[in-house]
Amino acid sequence: MKVGMLTGGGDCPGLNAVIRGAVRKGVSTYGHEFVGFRDGWRGPLENDTIPLDVDAVRGILPRGGTILGSSRTNPFAIDNGVERIQDNLAANGCDALIAIGGEDTLGVATRLADLGVNVVGVPKTIDNDLSGTDFTFGFDTAVNIATEAIDRLHTTAESHHRVLVVEVMGRHAGWIALHSGLAGGANIILIPERPFDIEKVCAQVESRFATHYAPIIVVSEGAVPAEGGDMSLTSGQKDAFGHVRLGGIGDRLASEIEHRTGKEARAVVLGHVQRGGVPTAFDRWLATRFGLHAITAVHDGDYGTMMSLRGTEIVRVPLSEGTDQLKTVRPELYEEAEVLFG
Ligand code: F6P
Repeated sequence: MKVGMLTGGGDCPGLNAVIRGAVRKGVSTYGHEFVGFRDGWRGPLENDTIPLDVDAVRGILPRGGTILGSSRTNPFAIDNGVERIQDNLAANGCDALIAIGGEDTLGVATRLADLGVNVVGVPKTIDNDLSGTDFTFGFDTAVNIATEAIDRLHTTAESHHRVLVVEVMGRHAGWIALHSGLAGGANIILIPERPFDIEKVCAQVESRFATHYAPIIVVSEGAVPAEGGDMSLTSGQKDAFGHVRLGGIGDRLASEIEHRTGKEARAVVLGHVQRGGVPTAFDRWLATRFGLHAITAVHDGDYGTMMSLRGTEIVRVPLSEGTDQLKTVRPELYEEAEVLFG
């Protein structure tokens, strides 16, 4: 049996661990062959492939990024995109495909599965916003990077009696902000799910200074002020799936706080630093297990499924379950953290 593999969407630490796990088990346990498609759905669309065997995956477990490359190509937005993918899978002798991706990549996989393509999905995103799995790999690494940044910002904020605003990724869900903010002892955490009241934020800033400490605010890139308005967009540019490029809320928040409280405020945008570099042990563990289970699902012919972490078990769920709706931060989780604000 020959299995194609691709990684799509924003990269994240752990992608290589999935590829390695699937290839190693696929070859040694089942005697399968593999072909890698480059740059997400662009690979099967344009028949851009790379050889994928045990030698190709040696040494990649701790490496960030993806040896297959990634892109945000949407075949459903391209003329004859689906037919071209089907033709190129057949031309490469692929009996099945493992698609590793987030909401968009797995959304395409779901639609292709409905059209009869033999596809199995593996969920990834640093944002941790895919339903159908307790955690996605990449998230733990991103949280650790953000937490280390917050730890460092505390000491410089204290020295200069400044407000430091840390902008982290999280388009629609505030998981990175919530987890790193709690782990790093942030004084305010702002997430997309809970539009913030700028006056309340300023009051919390003042109360933090009143205790002779400097406030650290962690804000998700997708957070918005309650009074409405568009504080978050910097470019208005959209990707192939129609998502606006975010970023800028941290800077705008810092200037608004400085203006309203008279306290010096600076913003730090962590950006793609959160997606780069070596995965944590947890992400390597999760990603490797997703890879091992994905190739078994392929071997079993259990197509249209996605690997999912439930507690400590890896289970299979319908692909649509992972992509139907985003997993956002529940109000009670935010309220739990709110007790520590100010
Ligand atoms: O989808 C994951 C994510 O990390 C989002 O949090 C962020 O908005 C987006 O990727 C940015 O990705 P890129 O700059 O690669 O388009």
